[in-house]
Amino acid sequence: MSTLISVTRKLGFGTMMASRRARSDAWEEIIAVHFVTRCFQTLLNLGVLDEMMAKGGIDPAAHAEKEGLDGQLLKAVCEALYARRLLNRDASGRFVLEETARFLLTNSMARGWFQLAHGYESVLFHLEDLLTGRMKYGVDVVRDGKLVGVGSGLASHDFYFPLVLDKLSALNVKCVMDIGSGDGEFLRLVCGRFPEAKGVGLDLSPEAVEAGRRQVEAAGLGARIALHTGNALRMADYRDKLRDVDAATTFFVLHELCDGGRNQRALEFLRTFRETLPGVPFVVIETIRPSAEEMRERPGPAVEYFLFHDLSGQNPVGRQTWKNLFEQAGYQSVTEDYIAFARTSIFIIR
Ligand SMILES: C[S@@+](CC[C@H](N)C(=O)[O-])C[C@H]1O[C@@H](n2cnc3c(N)ncnc32)[C@H](O)[C@@H]1O
Repeated sequence: MSTLISVTRKLGFGTMMASRRARSDAWEEIIAVHFVTRCFQTLLNLGVLDEMMAKGGIDPAAHAEKEGLDGQLLKAVCEALYARRLLNRDASGRFVLEETARFLLTNSMARGWFQLAHGYESVLFHLEDLLTGRMKYGVDVVRDGKLVGVGSGLASHDFYFPLVLDKLSALNVKCVMDIGSGDGEFLRLVCGRFPEAKGVGLDLSPEAVEAGRRQVEAAGLGARIALHTGNALRMADYRDKLRDVDAATTFFVLHELCDGGRNQRALEFLRTFRETLPGVPFVVIETIRPSAEEMRERPGPAVEYFLFHDLSGQNPVGRQTWKNLFEQAGYQSVTEDYIAFARTSIFIIR
């Protein structure tokens, strides 16, 4: 008699069917995805996946020895991703990338999303503490500013950044300020697209700015792009560095200044911008908050995106609230391109 039949006789058919459903609905659909995500992020962050891509494959023991990693643990993580079909083995037993993994590594949006999500890992880890009030976001738990800044830039690289470069092209710009510039990725693209242009970036995260400065130097753009660590609310302090700025952008930053109430900080920032750079067109790229029903109707990255914002004291708002804020801050002209499928708007305000 097969073990399946004997176990079913002992436990009953109903129990066996429920176990089967638990395996598929709990483990395969939800729990495994959580583990696979962390394993993939880890090999991405440690450069193991890039090494597989560059060298065609790796032997975990040799790679661990070369990079000072734990060989047994590296093998365990590789084997899990092999079983989940993100990795494969070649004839000599080395781990190699499956086609899906190769796509995830080479697609900027996917790669950026892995980093962005990882940036909020501490928030997810402490969810019970946050919900029970044992810990408070911003005091006991903070996101990883570098991962968020760098991941967000990568995620926008092939999508929002080119759309906004087109807008800047129409404005005939010479010097662009990017507020909340993360690692300065957008400004590097500005310099690539407009050979005469210069860029100024301002971001709160010293780690993201430092990572950006290294990339600016590596790209030979040190004379054209200046990245500053600082608070957008105090951008007036940088006035003498902004004399040449003739257009400004801000990608997914303004909602960080919204509080879900009167959004005083966002308003203060918008007023400060207008006073510091009067008449300069300001391209504001913002997510548009859908209702819970709309997200249930059409789920997508928005579900987790708005969740991690809500958990970390950020408050993306709806289209009308943005327009009200621009008007309250004294902007006379507001144009909007609403990209409905991406739940994002590109506003140009003056
Ligand atoms: C979601 S990330 C977006 C980064 C970049 N703009 C992009 O789209 O790739 C938000 C960025 O805004 C920065 N930020 C948030 N509040 C800020 C403030 N008050 N002043 C300057 N930067 C700020 C954060 O440090 C972070 O790098």
